[in-house]
Amino acid sequence: MGVKQRAAVEQLPLYVQGKSIPNAVKLSSNENPYPPLESVARVVGEQLGSFHFYPDMSAAAVVNRIAEHLGVRPAEVAVGAGSVEVAAQLVNASASEGDEVIFAWRSFEAYPILVQISGATAVGVPLTADERHDLPAMAAAVTDRTRLILLCTPNNPTGAVIRRDELERFLADVPKDVLVVIDEAYTQFGDDPDAVDGLDFFRRHENVAVLHTFSKAYGLAGLRIGYAVAREPVAANLRRVAVPFGVSALAQAAAIASLDAQEELDARVRLVVAERGRVLAGLREAGWSVLDSQGNFVWLRAGERTGEIDAALREHGVVARAFMGEGLRVTIGSPEMNDRFLAALAGVPPIVAA
Ligand SMILES: Cc1ncc(COP(=O)(O)O)c(C=O)c1O
Repeated sequence: MGVKQRAAVEQLPLYVQGKSIPNAVKLSSNENPYPPLESVARVVGEQLGSFHFYPDMSAAAVVNRIAEHLGVRPAEVAVGAGSVEVAAQLVNASASEGDEVIFAWRSFEAYPILVQISGATAVGVPLTADERHDLPAMAAAVTDRTRLILLCTPNNPTGAVIRRDELERFLADVPKDVLVVIDEAYTQFGDDPDAVDGLDFFRRHENVAVLHTFSKAYGLAGLRIGYAVAREPVAANLRRVAVPFGVSALAQAAAIASLDAQEELDARVRLVVAERGRVLAGLREAGWSVLDSQGNFVWLRAGERTGEIDAALREHGVVARAFMGEGLRVTIGSPEMNDRFLAALAGVPPIVAA
């Protein structure tokens, strides 16, 4: 007889990492295609002689630097080992058995897993036909058991953003004692002037928090650091439920160095955004119906053809993130990687919207 384990845990799906295949182009994890900046690598190198010590658990230097960068108070910033850990902190600080957490679906695949780990009930509200958050339906899903609402803009994997006006209406409908988190993991890649700016909403709404990461635009996915900006009592609770020493000294130093290299990193973001435009144009030229994306990825709604398209891409050495029966998310890589993707699709009959 085995040891007793939580039934809820045994039923959890495993988080699926984007696949790597030797010699293939990996476009499955929304990573930054460019290698670490020299200035950031140098600072990380300087830490290598001291990793026999624990990092600063309060991460004071990086928290202060983030606060200064955003114009918020350090007490309103809580860090974690990637924003996925901070998302777990937000869920664990807000909800447990008997409570409900609402998010759009499909969205970031960690959301339902994190909610189930907490013991709370995950309430996934289907996206609209044009791949956007259905905010009226999400507001209607709120009950007196709702503790947390996770919004993802731009949405992973569909690339759609939430507009300011629709979020304003949504927040007017949601009870003020329900925490609304705006996950902006991909916000730096957005160029839609009507899109939500999470910090603006954080400043004006007591129940709004923002989730940011250094993994995507800042290219630190392997070092693991992300943060929430939340009102002080919420941020304090995030520190209470955080994994102690979860953010390494290397990650803390790299995040500071990355904020110091903002212009260089912005230039890389602009390259990815330009490539996104080129990839979308290439797809449309080849006859594919594909919606605009504000993330560092594009979304092919392929339904039943998802497996077939995934196999065709792999045959040509391109790995995308396939959600069987739904579609494929393809990260925007370097120009060479994107050319491989477009070439790999050349022999595939395009999906044309009805
Ligand atoms: C929407 C969204 N939020 C959060 C994350 C977590 O990123 P990280 O833990 O690397 O900060 C991801 C990663 O793919 C994401 O897509």
